[in-house]
Amino acid sequence: MRNMTEAQLTDVVIERYAGTPDARLKEIVSSLIRHLHGFVREVRLSEAEWMAGVQFLTRTGQKCDDKRQEMILLSDNLGISALVNMVSASVPEGATESTVVGPFYVPTAPERKTGESILLRPTDDPELIVHGQVKDMAGAPVPDAKIEVWQTDSNGMYDIQDADQPEDNLRGWYRADADGRFAIRTIRPTSYPIPTDGPVGELLRATNRHPWRPAHLHAIVSAPGFRPLTTHLFDSEDAYLDSDVVFAVKESLIRDFRSNDDPQAAAKYGVEAPFWYLENDFLLERERA
Ligand code: BEZ
Ligand code: FE
Repeated sequence: MRNMTEAQLTDVVIERYAGTPDARLKEIVSSLIRHLHGFVREVRLSEAEWMAGVQFLTRTGQKCDDKRQEMILLSDNLGISALVNMVSASVPEGATESTVVGPFYVPTAPERKTGESILLRPTDDPELIVHGQVKDMAGAPVPDAKIEVWQTDSNGMYDIQDADQPEDNLRGWYRADADGRFAIRTIRPTSYPIPTDGPVGELLRATNRHPWRPAHLHAIVSAPGFRPLTTHLFDSEDAYLDSDVVFAVKESLIRDFRSNDDPQAAAKYGVEAPFWYLENDFLLERERA
């Protein structure tokens, strides 16, 4: 077809993909074309703007390496990761809600034994114990679950962003016991800005947005027969809960970290009093048929 109109072009392009053998890929590609064409028409995109967009996406890809995932960061900042989580990872009432994984997960982080801290440097600050149980939605213990956790250090950086931190600082996984019980030993997380030294930072500055995430501990909880849960535990006292740069806060994931100055309780967890304490259960949904 030649001399197409704006309106005809979209259908012609989609038709060109009609032979896609995989039905889901065909659905996704067709819809993507329809929405992207709709976007170009709606904003009347100029060729200079199109080129600026191409260069922005190129820089975003070029910023990625084995420790930096600028593409996920872009998705997070546009609310796409949060939306994908909403449409595809919703859990039934009674299960712990999920949220975005973010770009700083390291699947190879080591096991930490009960009582061992994920903080790999000395600290004079009060430590944090997150104690709880992994359960199913009926309240029965889920034995031997794997609880992967990661968070920033008090300077607001993850180990993989910061050459001064030991490898795997503030990350690792614990195995819950036969009753589903676990105790994570760490420090109280702080709010932190996402990296702004790349294209996503350019976008935030150009649009007058702040880069802050509210303080949180990340967790991925998995056990055979259950849907893996990717979630955060947010600090209820944080100032950024209502303006998280990546739109990932859910009310049900906000927790009160309480100070505990009982030396006997501290000794039970191998820490000094006073320490921060959080009782938190993870409620898993069974694998769907
Ligand atoms: C994080 O919580 O690690 C994170 C999530 C999205 C973007 C940047 C950081
Ligand atoms: Fe984080």
